[in-house]
Amino acid sequence: MKPNQQDLNRHRMSTNYNAIAREYQASKMLPWRKHIESYTFFQVVGDLSNLHVLDLACGEGFYTRQIKLRGAAEVVGVDISDGMIQLAKEAEAQNPLGLVYHCQDALLLNLDQKFDLICATYLLNYAQTADELFRMGQVIANHLKPGGRFVTINSNPDYQAAVEAMFPYGFTRENADYSEGAEITWRFYQSDMSHIAVTNYHLAKSTHETALSQAGLSAIQWHAVEASPEGVAAHDEGYWNAIVSSQPIIGLSASKA
Ligand SMILES: C[S@@+](CC[C@H](N)C(=O)[O-])C[C@H]1O[C@@H](n2cnc3c(N)ncnc32)[C@H](O)[C@@H]1O
Repeated sequence: MKPNQQDLNRHRMSTNYNAIAREYQASKMLPWRKHIESYTFFQVVGDLSNLHVLDLACGEGFYTRQIKLRGAAEVVGVDISDGMIQLAKEAEAQNPLGLVYHCQDALLLNLDQKFDLICATYLLNYAQTADELFRMGQVIANHLKPGGRFVTINSNPDYQAAVEAMFPYGFTRENADYSEGAEITWRFYQSDMSHIAVTNYHLAKSTHETALSQAGLSAIQWHAVEASPEGVAAHDEGYWNAIVSSQPIIGLSASKA
């Protein structure tokens, strides 16, 4: 029997975001998302004024909306999960920002448009092999204008802390091992201690650097995550030490010559 597109999408995502779209959206409200993930992401992105931006693996539009609100001229969001895109479109209908969303596999994307900036928070960690990473890099390079930039936040390949080390922030991260393509399981907890699990894949930093440079990107740089001054002020001294010292996620940027 031939698999239908939904089955293929499910396989490609390896986490069925359609089933957990609302819970994932809720997990974006945890303080570390704002004060570590989002703060570091926008530090690396820099000035967005008048930029035309593509947000790959946009999910329910968490960053798509913020990128527009921070000054981008245009933002297009693409995600493989129709459940996530539906939530993004609902938010757009409630509070129109002029955002355009497409439900598509980023690996097969071929838009007739080039962008100043491509963002893709948590896309690259869905590549299971160096070849998939290379193909993601090609899609990114093909959709960037010369001089355009790519910025992402991703699972940090070098994270080594214990599974429960991030529990005080509301999540855990577990690497099956550190072989290429090994599963990484994230669990995001809610206040009632229920949780959703998300699975992505380990590929070494060097695999990322090779794949992206072979795809036509240069100036590849990793960016350690930091706590925002606002986050530091809002919490007890040392609250962010564990996450900043163990770096479960990491920024990555590159550009197209
Ligand atoms: C962890 S969520 C991140 C969503 C959003 N970028 C954010 O930071 O809130 C990962 C997203 O990647 C999407 N995704 C995974 N593989 C994809 C692919 N091949 N093409 C497009 N989207 C993909 C999933 O559907 C999911 O919405």
